[in-house]
Amino acid sequence: MNPTNAVLESRVSELEGGVAALAVSAGSAAVNYAILAIAEQGNNIVSTPQIYGGTFTLFNHMFARLGIEARFAEDESPASLEALIDDKTSAVFCESIANPVGAFMDIQAIADMAHSHGVPLIVDNTVATPMLIRPFEFGADIVVHSLTKYMGGHGNSLGGIVVDSGKFPWAKNAKRFPMLNQPEPSYHNMIYTEAMGELAYIARVRTVPLRNTGSALSPFNAFLILQGIETLALRMERHCENAQVVAEYLENHPMVTWVKYAGLPSSPSYLLAQKYSGGQASGLMAFGIKGGMEAGEKFYDALKIFKRLVNIGDAKSLAAHPASTTHRQLAGAELEASGVTPDMIRLCVGIEHIDDILEDLEQALSAAQ
Ligand SMILES: Cc1ncc(COP(=O)(O)O)c(C=O)c1O
Repeated sequence: MNPTNAVLESRVSELEGGVAALAVSAGSAAVNYAILAIAEQGNNIVSTPQIYGGTFTLFNHMFARLGIEARFAEDESPASLEALIDDKTSAVFCESIANPVGAFMDIQAIADMAHSHGVPLIVDNTVATPMLIRPFEFGADIVVHSLTKYMGGHGNSLGGIVVDSGKFPWAKNAKRFPMLNQPEPSYHNMIYTEAMGELAYIARVRTVPLRNTGSALSPFNAFLILQGIETLALRMERHCENAQVVAEYLENHPMVTWVKYAGLPSSPSYLLAQKYSGGQASGLMAFGIKGGMEAGEKFYDALKIFKRLVNIGDAKSLAAHPASTTHRQLAGAELEASGVTPDMIRLCVGIEHIDDILEDLEQALSAAQ
């Protein structure tokens, strides 16, 4: 174990209120390992439909080929998720604040439902960070992060982490989780629940998926991410403050047809945001620009302060026009099915002075007319 990585692991674990964590090379590795530690061929996982595109691809395409079926619920309600659970379900998965449009999930209700079936809840807490939401306090069992985003805050290093609450009763659900309750042939025939107690899960993530497939975090990246975490509290405060002002400004702008941001009373997530983070809705939002694809492209090209890139969670403001960039190869119905409309702009509002941010948006919206 590298000592710098170990410091990062214990800090993030403490921030989340967990018992231990494992740092890995990227958020996608964290999601992958979090599930591979408890699911194998013949198992399934149940997920909310709104998740980061890369996680969707991992679940829907790669896991399918490994014989792990990803079942996506119709919507994020506990009842829709519950309808997909059976005795082969290894986990329920959701994002606390979902990428790409910032919808809040009802973590407590989903956790209660999952536990009533003896299934753990894995929450991707990347967009919220533990500054806004601590999913373990609402019953989640495992938290994963892309540290590449708000946690690091500078987009200078990839990283991910799996955090264990230590609370899920793996031994009580031995039939569902043979990997934690029967001898592990690849690691000294260890029976994790017997040998490691409350650390059973995270010990298996470290000694089986990580040890055998090697998505280790570079200690230098751990150092950079640790520098970022030192300012996380202040940055998140400013991201939320700025984003709230931007969302209100956009909602009243004649060039804007719709805005999705959980800090707005018009948002279906508004009440959940009040419950889970006191209304602080992070920096991620989406809006529709009048004039569709053409106006979207013009707006995007006119931006000066907002960086045109598809990462999220940098200290600097970021914008994406998915229809002309990440989703350019899709058209019509395909584009619609992916949840991306031609007029949709995604913003990840940074910590610059709010006057500069608004001025940039105003000039780019005028240029798009
Ligand atoms: C919510 C969420 N989870 C996981 C990831 C994957 O993280 P990484 O880019 O560090 O692999 C991302 C990346 O955008 C994300 O937005």
